[in-house]
Amino acid sequence: MMTGSLRSRLWLGYGILTVLVLGAFLLGLLVTLNGSTVLYRQVVSQLQDVRDSLLLAAGESAQSDVEGVQAALAQNPPASSVRVLMVSDSGEVLFDDKAAAEVSLNWSRLLALRRVAYQESSGLVRDAEKRMWIYTAAKLPNSQSILVVASRRQNLTLRFMFSDPMIRLVFRVMVLAAVVSLVLTLLMDRWIARPIRRMAQRAGTLATSEGAQIPVEGIKETRELAIALNQMSRKVQQSQQSQRDFVSDVSHELKTPLTSIQGFSAAILDGTAATPDEVRHSAEVITAESQRMLGMVNELLTLARLEGRVEKLELHPTDLAALLQGVVEKLALNAKRNHVDLICQITGLPQVMADPEKLTQVFLNLVENAIKFTPPGGMVKLSPEADAREIRVAVADTGQGMTQEDLEKIFNRFYQVDRSRKAGAGKSTGLGLTIAREIVRLHNGTITVASTPGAGTTFTVHLPLTPPQTGK
Ligand SMILES: Nc1ncnc2c1ncn2[C@@H]1O[C@H](COP(=O)(O)OP(=O)(O)OP(=O)(O)O)[C@@H](O)[C@H]1O
Ligand SMILES: [Mg+2]
Repeated sequence: MMTGSLRSRLWLGYGILTVLVLGAFLLGLLVTLNGSTVLYRQVVSQLQDVRDSLLLAAGESAQSDVEGVQAALAQNPPASSVRVLMVSDSGEVLFDDKAAAEVSLNWSRLLALRRVAYQESSGLVRDAEKRMWIYTAAKLPNSQSILVVASRRQNLTLRFMFSDPMIRLVFRVMVLAAVVSLVLTLLMDRWIARPIRRMAQRAGTLATSEGAQIPVEGIKETRELAIALNQMSRKVQQSQQSQRDFVSDVSHELKTPLTSIQGFSAAILDGTAATPDEVRHSAEVITAESQRMLGMVNELLTLARLEGRVEKLELHPTDLAALLQGVVEKLALNAKRNHVDLICQITGLPQVMADPEKLTQVFLNLVENAIKFTPPGGMVKLSPEADAREIRVAVADTGQGMTQEDLEKIFNRFYQVDRSRKAGAGKSTGLGLTIAREIVRLHNGTITVASTPGAGTTFTVHLPLTPPQTGK
């Protein structure tokens, strides 16, 4: 397509602009000139020159005016477009040097002719074919007749126009403008279209070679474009990488329980587990492992739905104090069994728009973790507080704590600081914090964590008091 590229659009744009501006200018000039002043005056002054020289010749001549004028015309013929006439005081044409070539002029408006002749000025007159003539006139010295020197208006217009220095200048300017606009188009192409073309070429390499980045250079817009494209390319790579990681993480996590299920069921089948006790133990392990797997798959599904924004929040005005109290009650026995003090200090809390079920899941996991990783005799404390902007709920324990290195990873899928503990812990999967963070994120909040190895850990959930958008 002709306007398919930036360059051709530039060319077309400048072309149209040039033609429009110059065309409008020229049209205006033509109208102005044709109507009056410069051109008219130029014609008149030429006619006046002819008239004056004829008058002079007639005045010097001893013969009658007609003969004097004729003699002067013969001696010094004016331009072929100039028509010389003599008209009597009553409007009768006595002499017309173009009588044979042109139709007669209409002198019905005698008064106008007389006035022009008397003032030696100029005027317009129509011929029998209604064409306009410009004329000047003067009284002849030796008679009552009037000398008329005329010239057709239209005929003269174009010719005079091209001979006029001003018009010639205008044409030169037009040609110059056309050249300038061509040069401008080329420059603009260089300035605008070329960087974009180059950018498009480079953007093409993003798709073909993995990890490629576009150099950030050139004009501001292409730099911004390069940055945006690079970001996009990184995002795409990250999401591809996380997809690969996900598949390998999940298959790795499923492998362990599957291996033991397979091992123990084989033991039953091939008779390695021979006694009823051994068979029973094998069956128990198989049940436990398959339960663990089922739990993990369910948690993965939850996580996928949360991350994919499929799962929407069911927002209700929520009394966080009651919610936390419920969590504490649910885990009280658990804490007691681990000989950990579970303390909950709740003062008045403002209501918050939240999904109570999902928030409960968050705090259940945080408190459960705190109990799980705190040695007997320790303490787990829930302390919520609120200000004008947000509610903060801190879950602090006096447990083993974590190193900075672990803190950076605990929110990752399946990450558990002590992997060997996992087998003993039975059904824990390392997905708890990942899910918790996702739920809090859906509430437009954040989870922060601070920990000192050997001294304890504090997780803090920040929930903004401005309500989150449902499910977004
Ligand atoms: N309060 C804490 N003190 C020390 N370590 C913690 C604490 N909370 C979490 N962790 C560490 O972070 C890891 C991840 O926690 P997360 O809740 O995600 O998984 P999990 O509790 O092991 O398993 P799940 O929650 O799925 O049952 C834990 O395994 C543990 O190593
Ligand atoms: Mg947990």
